[in-house]
Amino acid sequence: MPYRLTVIGTGYLGITHAACMADLGFEVLGLDVDVDKIRRLQSGELPIHEPGLEEILRRGLESGRLRFTTSYEEAAAFGDIHFLCLGTPQKHGEYAADVSYLDAAVESLAPYLDRDCLVVGKSTVPVGTAARLAAKLARLAPVNAGAELAWNPEFLREGFAVQDTLNPDRIVIGVASEQAEKILREVYEPLGEVPMVVTDYPTSELVKSAANAFLATKISFINAMAEVCEASHADVQQLAQALSFDDRIGGRFLNPGLGFGGGCLPKDIRAFMARAGELGADQALTFLREVDAINMRRRARMVDLARELAGGSFRGCTVGVLGAAFKPNSDDIRDSPALDVAVTIGEQGGQVTVYDPIALDNARKAHPELSYGESALDAVRGAHVVLLLTEWKQFIDLDPEELGAAVATRKIVDGRNALDAETWRAAGWHYRALGRP
Ligand code: UDX
Repeated sequence: MPYRLTVIGTGYLGITHAACMADLGFEVLGLDVDVDKIRRLQSGELPIHEPGLEEILRRGLESGRLRFTTSYEEAAAFGDIHFLCLGTPQKHGEYAADVSYLDAAVESLAPYLDRDCLVVGKSTVPVGTAARLAAKLARLAPVNAGAELAWNPEFLREGFAVQDTLNPDRIVIGVASEQAEKILREVYEPLGEVPMVVTDYPTSELVKSAANAFLATKISFINAMAEVCEASHADVQQLAQALSFDDRIGGRFLNPGLGFGGGCLPKDIRAFMARAGELGADQALTFLREVDAINMRRRARMVDLARELAGGSFRGCTVGVLGAAFKPNSDDIRDSPALDVAVTIGEQGGQVTVYDPIALDNARKAHPELSYGESALDAVRGAHVVLLLTEWKQFIDLDPEELGAAVATRKIVDGRNALDAETWRAAGWHYRALGRP
């Protein structure tokens, strides 16, 4: 492989990108300022749960193609292409994204660059960031370095990160020169035939914001229909199914329930609105306020439904919560609807016990005020109400009889429309779901 790659930032995106590129045959150096994290990665320990990734990480380390460092000087000397995979979290108390980690990375790397190289941003950013960072790079890199910037947004989903990285739906690159395009085409050649969109910086940045805004809108659309269904005694599950047969609509991302959470969709639509506001285009995205509001209302509705089943108050009520992760197959609890609901019920006086197959440790650390069970059965023991909030397969497969023997009263709210209502009702459960009669 002609190019040596560095990957700066080792979160979900960076670790996956580094390990997958090494697996494709590149020599890769991963960099993070977190010394402990780098030590763990270098010894093959994955700090996140991501199916298939640990194996690829180990394979990379064993082959010698993948290494990790905390030194920007080393990274600059090593890499022909530097991928920026830093987080852009929501600013505290604001909608806008905090891009300071990206700025810091460019400021740390640029002065050490001493030969031709490409710096490639992959983070999700407010449009205009790439042009700003390109100017910063030009200002801080030594004149002889020939350092250029390109933008290459990443669309991977947690839980499918490896699959999405190695088999992407499309590759989008925003470039300022034909040379940068040529290099990135070569880098992604091992992925085979993948549709590639080559464009300018702002379009490439916007593709990512627009994709996430569309997905969030689709989820909130069906959840808005769920609200209308609740008011009219209709069934949103059947409604969604009927819509999905229309190819133009499609069934994916049309699952009604507790709505979206995680480290991306909620903060990305807010950052998108904030940026549009700065650009004087806020009117274009006011609908995203509704998308956000519909999404947050689902959490409140879930708490209301649980309270109703608890007899009007959570006082003296034991609530068994199944799920803490923001979605199944992930240990990520960032902006998790499940935990949000659990915490609110606890604040309203309920005795909440949570269980999650993988996110339990993260939940414990973030919310020591809640109780935790060692298994699903353990979490629902003696419960007056059970809430299914993350649709892990092992919860969908639960036996209503076995669970029924553990609880105080057979009442369940299915927050993800994941269970078979008839089976649960046949086993004597009072079954309720969001958006269904
Ligand atoms: C998302 C985008 O899908 C991905 O392309 C982008 O790169 C990062 O953000 P991710 O956050 O991993 O990925 O999760 P995703 O699978 O998109 O789910 C987001 C949330 O929406 C979850 O909380 C999920 O439970 C919820 N969801 C999803 C629904 O409520 N209904 C659906 O139909 C689909």
